[in-house]
Amino acid sequence: MSTTILAIESSCDDTSAAVIQDEQVLSNVVANQAVHKLYGGVVPEVASRAHQINIVPVVDTAIKKAGIQKQDLTAIAFTRGPGLMGSLMVGLSFAKSFALSYQLPMIEVNHMQAHVLAHFAEDPKPNFPFLCLTVSGGHTQIVLVRDHLDMEVIGSTIDDAAGEAFDKTGKLLGLDYPAGPIIDRLAKEGTPLYKFPEPKIEGLDFSFSGLKTSILYFLKKELKNNPNFIEENKANICASVQDRIVSILMNKFIKAAEQTGITELAIAGGVSANSALRAALTNLGEEKGWNTYIPQFQYCTDNAAMIGITACYKYLKREFVGQDVTPLARWK
Ligand code: KG4
Ligand code: ZN
Repeated sequence: MSTTILAIESSCDDTSAAVIQDEQVLSNVVANQAVHKLYGGVVPEVASRAHQINIVPVVDTAIKKAGIQKQDLTAIAFTRGPGLMGSLMVGLSFAKSFALSYQLPMIEVNHMQAHVLAHFAEDPKPNFPFLCLTVSGGHTQIVLVRDHLDMEVIGSTIDDAAGEAFDKTGKLLGLDYPAGPIIDRLAKEGTPLYKFPEPKIEGLDFSFSGLKTSILYFLKKELKNNPNFIEENKANICASVQDRIVSILMNKFIKAAEQTGITELAIAGGVSANSALRAALTNLGEEKGWNTYIPQFQYCTDNAAMIGITACYKYLKREFVGQDVTPLARWK
């Protein structure tokens, strides 16, 4: 008999539902919350209210698109954390009621583990062991993946995440939130003329807060001489910022490959949608003869398909949770 899982993702500002059948994605529906643009960042209270409005239609659409009936489902999966408490609560409460109504077992999923396992939603799949550079708005990690559910974080940021570095720099440049995709687009029209310093951090850890500060001082200095500096040089500034963020990420990722001897390399998370990072990984693979894995755009940013794929592996091990489960805003 086939395993059919309804998966819910609501950890931040995207409400998503997916139906996964025997590790195949039947549907993956995402409702973005554009409302946060007004505030220049995600407002937790606004996010949880938007999840409440979105969750029923998003789930209904995912089930319809999958061409199944609710009665066909064998389990329901949800993101337990890490994420915003109020946002997680909406997905979890929905999953609990759904599980009770349809007598389904519940599967908890760690959002960061799911970003890594998004690679199993498509072909070719990475071979174990592989390294995954997971880069999102809240996290920056190098993960050593021994098996679907056996992962170890071997490097992470000591301050801001890579996505945060894009978004906070974007704010300095007067760009909308989230600025990552906008910087990516503008950078295509510019040249990385400005050389921002690369932080000197030991081992496999990252730091991005110094970069943000040096960009701030750079802009202040230039604006003193020319009040239109940002407007006149936006594309070049974006190209320079992106160039440095990508080099910080890639240098540590290469170091991790050399240290571990693992040359199966994958990227995941919202920032893995960045065209310069994707190109840098592809070039590295071609240059060194290493295997590289880059997810389709729909599996980079937050989505429920990755939650459902992770849940498939947990279902095989019968890793279920009860109705007393609570969200974990912080969950390694
Ligand atoms: O994984 P994700 O959707 O949500 C979190 O779990 O945080 O990642 C969102 C982050 C944001 O910081 C956004 O600016 C960044 O991913 N992002 C990008 C691009 N697309 C999304 N950053 C750089 N270039 C992109 N093309
Ligand atoms: Zn995410």
